[in-house]
Amino acid sequence: MKHQIAPSILNADFLRLSEVIHMLNQSEADLIHLDIMDGVFVPNLSFGFPIISQINEMAEKPLDVHLMITEPDRYLERFRDAGADLLTVHYEACHDLHATLKEISALGMKPSVSLKPETDVSVLQPYLPNLDMVLIMTVEPGYGGQSFMEESYGRVQQLRDMIRKAGVPTVIEVDGGIGRHNLHDLKDAGASVFVIGTSIFRADDPAAMISELKHM
Ligand code: DX5
Ligand code: ZN
Repeated sequence: MKHQIAPSILNADFLRLSEVIHMLNQSEADLIHLDIMDGVFVPNLSFGFPIISQINEMAEKPLDVHLMITEPDRYLERFRDAGADLLTVHYEACHDLHATLKEISALGMKPSVSLKPETDVSVLQPYLPNLDMVLIMTVEPGYGGQSFMEESYGRVQQLRDMIRKAGVPTVIEVDGGIGRHNLHDLKDAGASVFVIGTSIFRADDPAAMISELKHM
């Protein structure tokens, strides 16, 4: 199966956001990855509903919204209204994950769960039938530009084996420190959706880099 590229705009130039979204529309990107941080679940803040809504008005690709916030249940409907197509909540941030996933689906979005690097992959077993996607963090969430954690390969393989055994169509997304140097090995391990920030936005030609990553 051909893999998908989900550029993360976290470290893009926000004064030129319309140019960024235009570039992504014209590019071979499959999704647009938006990182939402509350300064509590992670030590950083990013952006919120007005920016997501404005991106949604212009974007021609589905919005892949990654919530790094505590008690995401408070805002699920507002993220739907802002334009989220896929909504990822963190396992570590939810009190009743079954209920949260059910609500995300009921609102018409694709439900996804993310794990921090220290959370055991096996905790997801009971939720797999209700998950379109699992996001394995390959850095500590909070900032772009960090180094990929090598132990992530084993985590992706373990999750792939769980998904195969369960016989469900859940896809594996990976996020953090990804680029030309490790995409292929992550794909071999079982990942099929690649969130990539720095490697795209620090490239001389971001659209050409997206194309290169897409055809690896
Ligand atoms: C980090 C975010 C990532 C980040 C990835 O917490 O979830 O999506 O933007 O950026 P790079 O590719 O620079 O690691
Ligand atoms: Zn992310």
